[in-house]
Amino acid sequence: MGSSMFEIVKRDGLARIGVLHTPRARLDTPALLPVVNPKLATVSPSQLYHHFGFKALITNSYIIRNSTGLNERALDEGLHRLLDYPGVIMTDSGTFQSHMYGEVEVSNEEIIGFQRAAGSDIGTVLDIFAEPYWTEEQTAASIETTLGRTEEAAGMKEGMMLAGVVQGSVYPRLRESCARAMASMDVDVHPIGGVVPLMEQYRYRELVDVVLSSKKGLLPARPVHLFGAGHPMLISLAALMGCDMFDSASYAKFARDDRLMFVDGTARLQDMHGLECDCPACGDHDLESLRGLPKKEREVTIARHNLYELKKEMARVRRAISEGSIWELAEIRCRAHPALLDGLRRVADHAELLERHEPLSRDGAMFYTGPETLRRPALHRYRQRSQSRYLPPFQEYVALDEKGKPHGRYQGDEFRSLLSQGALPLVRTAFGPVPPELDEIYPLAQSLFPTISDADADAAAEEGAAAFLAAHGLKPSVKSPSEGDYDVNALRAVAVARYQFGEEAASLLFDGALELVVSRKTGKIRNVLVSGEHVLSMRASDGFYTLRPEGAAKLMEGLRAPVMRVTVMDDAVPFNREGRNVFCAFVTDCDPGLRPMDEAMVVSSADELVAVGRALLTREEMLAFNKGVAVKTRDGVPSKE
Ligand code: GUN
Ligand code: ZN
Repeated sequence: MGSSMFEIVKRDGLARIGVLHTPRARLDTPALLPVVNPKLATVSPSQLYHHFGFKALITNSYIIRNSTGLNERALDEGLHRLLDYPGVIMTDSGTFQSHMYGEVEVSNEEIIGFQRAAGSDIGTVLDIFAEPYWTEEQTAASIETTLGRTEEAAGMKEGMMLAGVVQGSVYPRLRESCARAMASMDVDVHPIGGVVPLMEQYRYRELVDVVLSSKKGLLPARPVHLFGAGHPMLISLAALMGCDMFDSASYAKFARDDRLMFVDGTARLQDMHGLECDCPACGDHDLESLRGLPKKEREVTIARHNLYELKKEMARVRRAISEGSIWELAEIRCRAHPALLDGLRRVADHAELLERHEPLSRDGAMFYTGPETLRRPALHRYRQRSQSRYLPPFQEYVALDEKGKPHGRYQGDEFRSLLSQGALPLVRTAFGPVPPELDEIYPLAQSLFPTISDADADAAAEEGAAAFLAAHGLKPSVKSPSEGDYDVNALRAVAVARYQFGEEAASLLFDGALELVVSRKTGKIRNVLVSGEHVLSMRASDGFYTLRPEGAAKLMEGLRAPVMRVTVMDDAVPFNREGRNVFCAFVTDCDPGLRPMDEAMVVSSADELVAVGRALLTREEMLAFNKGVAVKTRDGVPSKE
């Protein structure tokens, strides 16, 4: 609903690098918006923009409206001149003041009208701040009011973008239903509100439930703003959960109390034993000289330090998302405080949501940082698919210790010998047992664990083994490796297809005489030919297949729609047939089973094969966005006429 102004440029699970197209300027996300108090700007808005590079800020329209002088100037000159700020200005509505001080004497209609008249780029509804101690009934009633006001604001926003705030206190059901209702309204940004007390009280575990239950109800095509999140130690976890915007008043508030923010926590100036930082603000000082500054100057210096630390962490988070290492970063950052670690551990309980957004593979190797790594969606998926999609060639197994990755390179002789005797070798790993056919796929081969194992990884290996053996009804064998040969690649060709595409697709692809083109140098499968047709190619990087048009043709005949398909409007068909990428705006449907980075068949409304490529987004994303690439096309399929 509405025209979406947001696009995803790169994603890692729920985390995303995006662009919000506002009428004033494009805003790259994740973005941190410093809070500017119009009455006491610790650091000037102009400096925030030009010097620090914060291309958006947030200020409070309620304070401006209620202050004679500022009120008139805002209406006469507009906010951008009032603040001397060329970037995107988001305004808040007075809701936070009502949370702090009780009722505010302004109506929703008045404050929306004021924000619009003052030229705010993104205005905010006067939502009701549902406190964490409120009952479910009280919260539900307040959401009705918030939704009514959002509807009212949407009707009068005109050219201003509008932030519709998700409330719901600590009740996941209410959060999700409020989010769903917000998603159906004509708003542009979704802040998650009412969470400041949770963050102040280090209730990160509840914060995670609040954010992820809100995400479930929201449209993926709108940026999500975590209201009041402005500590660098929290940004990576919030980004991991799919938050795109943050705001920080803390940089200034903490500075007032002589507190310096770091990614691993906050330090009081009085407790420090040296200045642990060489940012431009700290660079001119040592501890003594900073302590010796007059109060106001010290406050500004510390505020500037806090801004540098935030700016650095935003860049770090963006790099992590683009490299596919946001999990590693969040796992490391959450060690700053046990309550944050609780938050991270809680994320894993939302397995279904995470799995839907989990890519088939990533470019880089996965790093083990500690027990939390064992619950990542990548491992969850391996456990699931190795139990449900794998078909053991034999019913007896021999467990082996891991010697190196990929396993076949280090223990290929053992594999071949055992297989030739009718026993299945299984390598014990923290992912669960790995059979020889699956040892090259992501993340099994593309993962690094410490060589000295820990109790959690050992327990995961054991539990994984028990579940895998039970799922397949496997029995231990007394066979031991000796002589013998066996073509693992013939098994691998089918096993990887089953793992990647499912059982039905695999049997359709492998319906004739199999011929493998194997790399002379590495012994790895390159191409799969069936009855002389090149149907699949295997990528060395992640051990998965790319689907050839000949393979797609076979699948089209046997797989009923919508399986593995992305349907495009007929207008787009000629372009995709020529090999051009599929843009979200032209997608009309998509298989809900497709995951980011999965192979996809692009089809017309009449279900004719048009192209083959790699899906970059989930179904919900493809349908919700009207900007950005949905499928990266590899091969166009010319029309048969
Ligand atoms: N600032 C911090 N929390 C909130 C909230 O819940 N609503 C609004 N409008 N502003 C906030
Ligand atoms: Zn510093």
